[in-house]
Amino acid sequence: MTIRSKGSQFLRHLYNRTTSFLTRNNTKSPNFPVLSDHAAARDHAKASVETQRSVPQKMKSLIKEFKIYRWDPDRPIHKPYMQSFFLDLSTCGPMVLDALQKIKAEEDSGLSYRRSCREGICGSCAMNIDGTNTVACLKPIDADTDKPTTVMPLPHMFVVKDLVVDLSNFYRQYKSIEPWLKTKKAPEDGREYRQSPMDRKKLDGLYECILCACCSTSCPSYWWNPEEFLGPAALLHAYRWISDSRDNFTEERLQALTEDEKRLYRCRSIKNCTATCPKSLDPATAINKMKTKHLLSLPVQKLGGL
Ligand code: SF4
Ligand code: SF4
Ligand code: FES
Repeated sequence: MTIRSKGSQFLRHLYNRTTSFLTRNNTKSPNFPVLSDHAAARDHAKASVETQRSVPQKMKSLIKEFKIYRWDPDRPIHKPYMQSFFLDLSTCGPMVLDALQKIKAEEDSGLSYRRSCREGICGSCAMNIDGTNTVACLKPIDADTDKPTTVMPLPHMFVVKDLVVDLSNFYRQYKSIEPWLKTKKAPEDGREYRQSPMDRKKLDGLYECILCACCSTSCPSYWWNPEEFLGPAALLHAYRWISDSRDNFTEERLQALTEDEKRLYRCRSIKNCTATCPKSLDPATAINKMKTKHLLSLPVQKLGGL
């Protein structure tokens, strides 16, 4: 045996003694006697055991709490309450609606909410998530597992059950603006009402509304005057028809919106509606344009009254 190999044997021996000394109080520390001559392999084996040990801890950090508003009309003496559900995010889809679907499928089939398209088209799944009105199918789950996600019904609405609210008044107001094309004469070609590309472009930012009610239920003016004030959603649609070059009832539509001035002028330009719209529409600007259009149509002596 050469001096060099004797030296490396001594170093290996020293390494083994040192590591066994350092780990002697840790009964759980792996030893790997079969790797005693392979220092690097031993390090890797130890590291992989450590990684395996930390997996349950890391898995635990994927558990997310969802606090959901519950109220059951069949148990009217029970007050509404917040119920917590804990979901493993590694087995859940990415959106809040996915979490609700999972809870309903696996934990509580009685949980009630509306949904249909699951891609931001139908407007059914509108609710208040972490303090903001939005549609649950477009809202990604906040991956921060240290804080819960809070899910409430749309604010200031009568609750039918859990996350389902009564939208009867909202739809009545939508119907009141007569959301269809109204004309006074037949189309020139006897077949259809035509529109230039430029006039069609004026409807962009208006026709995309999905009537989710996120805007109206975030509007303080609507909270306090839900009967008289039409709210930003119905008013956006009113402006959509007022802006349509094919419609011949612009004046009548404006008059219907303003004969009771609360219908339009209760808007105080707070802009909550625009801030919350999940389709990035701008009802506040549409309302302001309608106000301007109406004011410009008034005789000067009437302006002081508004
Ligand atoms: S801008 Fe008008 S409609 Fe929109 S939130 Fe404010 S008050 Fe309501
Ligand atoms: S304007 Fe936006 S928030 Fe309001 S109903 Fe339409 S899509 Fe929903
Ligand atoms: S399910 Fe249709 S908008 Fe969310």
